[in-house]
Amino acid sequence: MTSTTTPGPAAPPAGAGRFAFLVHPRTRIADDLGRVWAPLGVGPERLYDLALRRLTLPPVRMARVEIGGQAVGDVVLVPFGARHLLERPGEGRLRVAAAVDRAARLGADVVGLGALTATVTGGGVSLRGREDVGVTNGNAFTASTVDLQARLLLGSAVDQRADRHVAVVGATGSVGGAVAALLARDQAVDRLTLVARSRPRLDALASRLRTVSGGRVRTTATDDLAAVASADLVVLLTASTSAIIGPEHLAPGAVVLDATQPRNTSPAILEQRPDVQVVDGGVVAIPSLRLLGGDIGLPDGRAYACFAETALLALSGHRGHFSIGVPTLEQVDHTRALAADLAHLGLGPAAPTSFGRPLDLAPPHLLEPEAVR
Ligand SMILES: NC(=O)c1ccc[n+]([C@@H]2O[C@H](COP(=O)([O-])OP(=O)(O)OC[C@H]3O[C@@H](n4cnc5c(N)ncnc54)[C@H](OP(=O)(O)O)[C@@H]3O)[C@@H](O)[C@H]2O)c1
Repeated sequence: MTSTTTPGPAAPPAGAGRFAFLVHPRTRIADDLGRVWAPLGVGPERLYDLALRRLTLPPVRMARVEIGGQAVGDVVLVPFGARHLLERPGEGRLRVAAAVDRAARLGADVVGLGALTATVTGGGVSLRGREDVGVTNGNAFTASTVDLQARLLLGSAVDQRADRHVAVVGATGSVGGAVAALLARDQAVDRLTLVARSRPRLDALASRLRTVSGGRVRTTATDDLAAVASADLVVLLTASTSAIIGPEHLAPGAVVLDATQPRNTSPAILEQRPDVQVVDGGVVAIPSLRLLGGDIGLPDGRAYACFAETALLALSGHRGHFSIGVPTLEQVDHTRALAADLAHLGLGPAAPTSFGRPLDLAPPHLLEPEAVR
């Protein structure tokens, strides 16, 4: 008599390390605290805002992480909101450092800096001196993921246009700098508009990218957001607590790829600009991923790309720091190789969503992971 067994989820390789991923409450603190313990979700927002601002609360282990049925890490909550981090970056850095201590005590080999914990630490620069754990901002694999999504959108929604014009908003940032460099290096666009607030950094980036593309991508830089009005595709990679791109900014039929956390596109685009498609960026599928005890705003089996980078590094046995500041293109390529090595975990592009909802009018090949490998 033969017996049949159902194969379980693919397990992480032997020799894998553990990781921790740092998160913080985003725009509405009550919503995110409710993910830790549901009754907290109905508390008064002003009280939470005051409490988190005034009290030096210790970091909290918010969830245990399982991949392939095995415990591989933890999610650690920094009890300081998005607004607090951007308004008081010095204190934010101390709170993030305390969360890294907590992660180390939980046994993490690699710590990933989620959302604005990366921004306040200069993409991890302020943690570079740590020798007890490896730190990564997760932005190499995020850049890889956003770059692939941008190319898929260019290959579908805007492929009929002779002059493919992409605006990267937040181009001088950690993710934005790497995405812009990938698009320039591979000449994936005809025109690149780099947008941020600091002119000197923009000008230095534009000049570097003209060299990277061999002059074959027309590259301009501006601190005027109005410049996105002529772009076919707007890739949004800013670090702000409020909406930066609204219905008034976009060209007819434009596509917005928004990877920001908290979200920097206005939901008013949905109502007022039915001609515009907003696609959520920087999310990947890890089918056997489960968070036990809390969630970070995504369903089981989906993860932010920076979380995925942290997991990839730990599972591959990486030790020491990885992406700090703006990741290099070699680091981006390395994360792609790691994802391919760990392909048995099923890691791949997530089916496209817009404001968290499945996209009805998704270009068909956006749904085919093979198209981007
Ligand atoms: N989905 C994912 O897996 C994932 C992973 C990593 C990061 N993220 C998100 O991606 C975003 C960028 O992260 P990061 O680490 O690259 O941040 P970052 O290094 O702090 O870069 C932010 C960029 O935005 C620009 N910026 C900020 N406010 C702006 C404004 N009001 N108008 C125009 N430009 C503005 C900054 O330049 P100036 O200061 O000169 O304006 C800089 O170029 C964040 O929202 C983060 O949460 C998502």
